[in-house]
Amino acid sequence: MEITILGIESSCDDTSCAVVRNTTLLSNVTASQEVHRTWGGVVPELASRAHEQNIVPVADKALKDAGVTIDDIDAIAFTRGPGLLGSLLVGSSFAKGLSIAKNIPLIDCNHLLGHIMVHFIDEPGVEMPHPSFPFITLLVSGGHTMLVLVKSHLEMEILGQTTDDAAGEAFDKCAKVMGLPYPGGPVIDKLAADGDPKAFKFAKPSIPDLDYSFSGLKTSFLYFLRDKVEQNPDFIEQNKADLCASLQHTIIDILISKLVKAVKAADVTDVAIAGGVSANSGLRNAIEREGEKRGWRVFLPKRSYTTDNAAMIAIAGYFKYKQELFTSLDVTPMSRVSKIE
Ligand code: KG4
Ligand code: ZN
Repeated sequence: MEITILGIESSCDDTSCAVVRNTTLLSNVTASQEVHRTWGGVVPELASRAHEQNIVPVADKALKDAGVTIDDIDAIAFTRGPGLLGSLLVGSSFAKGLSIAKNIPLIDCNHLLGHIMVHFIDEPGVEMPHPSFPFITLLVSGGHTMLVLVKSHLEMEILGQTTDDAAGEAFDKCAKVMGLPYPGGPVIDKLAADGDPKAFKFAKPSIPDLDYSFSGLKTSFLYFLRDKVEQNPDFIEQNKADLCASLQHTIIDILISKLVKAVKAADVTDVAIAGGVSANSGLRNAIEREGEKRGWRVFLPKRSYTTDNAAMIAIAGYFKYKQELFTSLDVTPMSRVSKIE
């Protein structure tokens, strides 16, 4: 049986709609919001307004690119949370409106579940390699950093998570200190390619178990730069590549050390990464190297599925559809969630 799902993602600053037919992705359209660059971070009010402007044309294009009409859609999956409430409201209200107008069932999706589910997307004519259960996912984004044991498509256990900042936040905040544009993660990734990862040393946290912490690193980076700039006002400009490479190397080291611990404790061989920071070239290489050394099967998402996108919500929606996990019209967005379900 063929199931066609329209996915809608609007949790932060990307307005995205996608169509899957079973596990095959037919379209994935994203309008990123440039307006936040000026402010050096996402401004919630501006994000909601931009979603409101973008959502209709983005949905329209996703249907057209997929070669379907709204009448072909079996269910509408939307992000319920976590995320910015005003942004989530735009996507959920739009999904509800379409659902009522066209009498199409609704499915609410957890944003984090979506990030992990990208590992089950196929493309037309291409069956992608998928991890086998149980596997571990290192989910690293601007809002989250966690180790998740994935037991089945919809069954997840959070093994550890950040106690303060997310890894993406560490990239973005340190980039801001260096005067780099927002979002800083991809900029640091690019500059790091020409730098020496061992040029500078920054403090690493000592957090027990499988939890993470990144606020200390951010502070150590800030103080280090403040002292250096006092002695030499051009220090950042003269050492940009080395600073980026060393910072990136430290973040990757922190991420990988806990990942190795989690994989050992869970006794799995399949290891995946997901979320915006999983686009990072240094992290991707480091995990591949670690996998070769330790006999893991490593799953790296396509770069277009790393940062926020609706393909991840559409595929999560497909697996929820198969279990008839529909939602009612009185469902409300949630800015925070404690579980991935
Ligand atoms: O998953 P995502 O789009 O949004 C959240 O759910 O948070 O992740 C965005 C985060 C930002 O912090 C951004 O700087 C980071 O992902 N990011 C990267 C790279 N591309 C995006 N960080 C490091 N290297 C990259 N190449
Ligand atoms: Zn995300």
